[in-house]
Amino acid sequence: MSAAATFYVTTPIYYVNDKPHIGHAYTTLACDVLARFKRLDGFDVRFLTGTDEHGQKVEKSAEAAGMTPLALADLNSANFRDLAGVLGCSNDDFIRTTEPRHLAACQALWTRLVEKGDIYLGAYEGWYSVRDEAFYAEDELIKGPGDSRLAPTGAPVDWVKEPSYFFRLSAWQDRLLKWYEDNPDCVAPASRRNEVMSFVKGGLQDLSVSRTSFKWGIPVPGDGAHIMYVWLDALTNYITALGYPDTSGDFARYWPNALHMVGKDIVRFHAVYWPAFLMAADLAPPRRVFAHGWWTNEGQKISKSVGNVIDPLTLIETYGLDQVRYFLLREVPFGNDGDFSHRAMIQRINSELANDLGNLVQRTLSMIAKNCDGRVPPHVDYAEMTEDDWTLLDNSRDLINSVRPAIDRQAFHDALEAIWIIIRSANVYIDRQAPWKLRKTDQIRMETVLYVLAESIRNLALLLSPFMPTSADKILDQLGVSADRRDFASLGAGQSLTSGVELPAPQGVFPRFVEEAAG
Ligand code: MSP
Repeated sequence: MSAAATFYVTTPIYYVNDKPHIGHAYTTLACDVLARFKRLDGFDVRFLTGTDEHGQKVEKSAEAAGMTPLALADLNSANFRDLAGVLGCSNDDFIRTTEPRHLAACQALWTRLVEKGDIYLGAYEGWYSVRDEAFYAEDELIKGPGDSRLAPTGAPVDWVKEPSYFFRLSAWQDRLLKWYEDNPDCVAPASRRNEVMSFVKGGLQDLSVSRTSFKWGIPVPGDGAHIMYVWLDALTNYITALGYPDTSGDFARYWPNALHMVGKDIVRFHAVYWPAFLMAADLAPPRRVFAHGWWTNEGQKISKSVGNVIDPLTLIETYGLDQVRYFLLREVPFGNDGDFSHRAMIQRINSELANDLGNLVQRTLSMIAKNCDGRVPPHVDYAEMTEDDWTLLDNSRDLINSVRPAIDRQAFHDALEAIWIIIRSANVYIDRQAPWKLRKTDQIRMETVLYVLAESIRNLALLLSPFMPTSADKILDQLGVSADRRDFASLGAGQSLTSGVELPAPQGVFPRFVEEAAG
């Protein structure tokens, strides 16, 4: 048998100056769904997340907290690691940029870029934003209060003047444009690709890639006065984790199928600087960079100063993990901005999870428990199955064919909508067939209808499992599906439920969310 196709998915690595919030949870969850989906679909998957621990921003926050940068990094990196656990993430690795393996990879990449003639020593004089860890050209700035100027993101900027190594980014303009043109899917959604292409067409300046005015970073090989620019350091994490500078082994296996999931604010780093660094080092650029949008909270921009930061742990305690996973990936077309609201969350929990899916499962399983002696319906009359039966059965068995392409476009909302179309049609089917009436008139027909429903639910639960792993497992447990039959190879007719198999007593999977009375 030939080796399984590979899939490598990465989250951005998170700055350790702060606690995790909904934005971090969102990216990580999206990657987890992709990783789980691909594993179930037979791929050899590597899923990476971690923390970005160097740079001026972390150094300053540590100073303000009266800690060493490493002590702050240890503390907050652990918070991000814990969050991945609480989110039910299936990451295979968690990288910290303060690890020895990362120092080795960064210094090797640097040395390679020097050997290739793409790094030279000069002096930087210009604007820098510590909050964004980004250099800005004069004409990018916007007006701030009084005479001050701000980064286009609204972050404060400082005038910096220091010796610096530069990366010859200007030399990569044509090769970057060719990469976007030859690979229409390498930056998505299309609006972001256009944005990146017009930025590159506008001309690229060489990029300052080292700093001398502070110390918290990776030393530049052969020049102890400089540390590497934190973005060159941070981006390299994606290949450190595959064993770079060794380019055999994991690197050879996973790198050709890398997908970087990022927020829209950090597209330029991932879709311009990073591919240029890689190409300069004779390495392939990532297969794809997908930029998602930003969440607001009840219509307002989320910010610490406003005090409306959403803590993912509170969210999960309030609504439940699978409910949060579902909501975040269902509420907003992935790639667009979206608004978090308590009302929208409850609406989705109650109408889509409790009513549509929960009731379908509950009605079917409790009728089976009561009327089929707690067994997968034993008397199914395949010869007499109606068009209505076959339509639901076939649609649920073929559903992977519309869900898979949606997942491959990172269109989670489309994937879920395709699944919900079948859930809703199953509810229409159960009402139309009214098995509770058949119980009195035609036992075999009733069992046939319940079998069609149970088998459809099996297929639905398998496809839901990347999104809501715990709930999907509860449903599959109740259908008596064994652990080794929960991958996508088990979808369809080949692994259908076996009539007569005894089932555990049914239990509700999606409770309604009842708001506590005020006061
Ligand atoms: N350390 C860099 C990434 C380096 S990757 C080589 C960084 N870290 S971050 O912690 O500031 O941000 C991580 C991610 O959170 C970004 O992708 C950003 O888009 C995302 N979000 C921050 N606020 C967000 C929302 N309000 N909504 C959605 N995502 C948001 O950037």
